Amino acid sequence: MVTGERIQALAFAGLKELPAQFVRPDHERPENTKAVEGVTAPIISLSQPRNVVVKEMAAAASEWGFFLITDHGISPELIRRLQEVGRVFFELPIEEKEAYSNDPSHGKFEGYGTKMTKNHDEKVEWIDYFFHVMAPPSKVNYQFWPANPPTYREVTEEYNKEVLRVTEEVLELLSEGLSLERKALKGSLGGDEIELEMKINMYPPCPQPELALGVEPHTDMSAITVLVPNDVPGLQLWKDGHWVAVDYLPNALFTHIGDQIEILSNGKYKSVLHRSVVNKESTRMSWAVFCAPPPETMIGPLLDLVDKTNPPKFSTKTYAEFRYRKFNKLPQ
Ligand code: OGA
Ligand code: NI
Repeated sequence: MVTGERIQALAFAGLKELPAQFVRPDHERPENTKAVEGVTAPIISLSQPRNVVVKEMAAAASEWGFFLITDHGISPELIRRLQEVGRVFFELPIEEKEAYSNDPSHGKFEGYGTKMTKNHDEKVEWIDYFFHVMAPPSKVNYQFWPANPPTYREVTEEYNKEVLRVTEEVLELLSEGLSLERKALKGSLGGDEIELEMKINMYPPCPQPELALGVEPHTDMSAITVLVPNDVPGLQLWKDGHWVAVDYLPNALFTHIGDQIEILSNGKYKSVLHRSVVNKESTRMSWAVFCAPPPETMIGPLLDLVDKTNPPKFSTKTYAEFRYRKFNKLPQ
């Protein structure tokens, strides 16, 4: 990496000025691309009658590609414990965390990371993260999971079970919203081989947050992403030509439609463009779970959703091929 350092270490060195490699060009700076006021992302309570939930979710997925889920049945206590074990891990001494360093340029994605830049003009994001697979059991490598705090594994496995239940429910609701049978989307995403990946995002306080970005504008390449942040806001969505800030809503699941659902639905559901901004005083953290098909799964517009008047808008390819192209910025 150009900085050669973790963002957390840089932040705690007490910088007054943001180093040049984090300073965004004018048109990307949060100070020049402020979020609009008075617009809020959809909130969907799963305790409503099913037909209402199906309708609300289909509308939110089509218009926003994003919604906040409440009354999902994951206990606030479990979310609190998940956040606690992640926070404790990031508070460990730097050497202890470095033992988990990943190496994406050599295909080692799991572990502790800070995004690399491929060339010297590219700006660095103000973020460190921890990434590992949670499901299915055959793809889990516990050696990449934090051994400290000792409760990390137990708490994360419990959360994994709950997120799996909720993601299956969301895929059923989204299927019904396309007038497909309930298991249609899950079936197309590998069925019980569907993968869940945990990414703990850690955004330390930033000396000049108006010049930097936490994560750059992107869409998630997953099918869906289910995220819980701490109470420091920062997530923004692109909607109708503006950034919209997502307010903190305790215990809600911040649910993103990703590229694979956009493709399967032939564009009826939108993969949401989003970014995160950082904060001068507070550390922001978020726990993103990416729900994605196994690499060999062929993903393309579902045949039931295309015909002569509504031709496929996306090509069909394996998820591995899609991912390779996205990482290398090649056309899909
Ligand atoms: C991501 C992401 C946003 C956030 O990890 O893909 O978009 O709120 N995170 O941390
Ligand atoms: Ni994202």
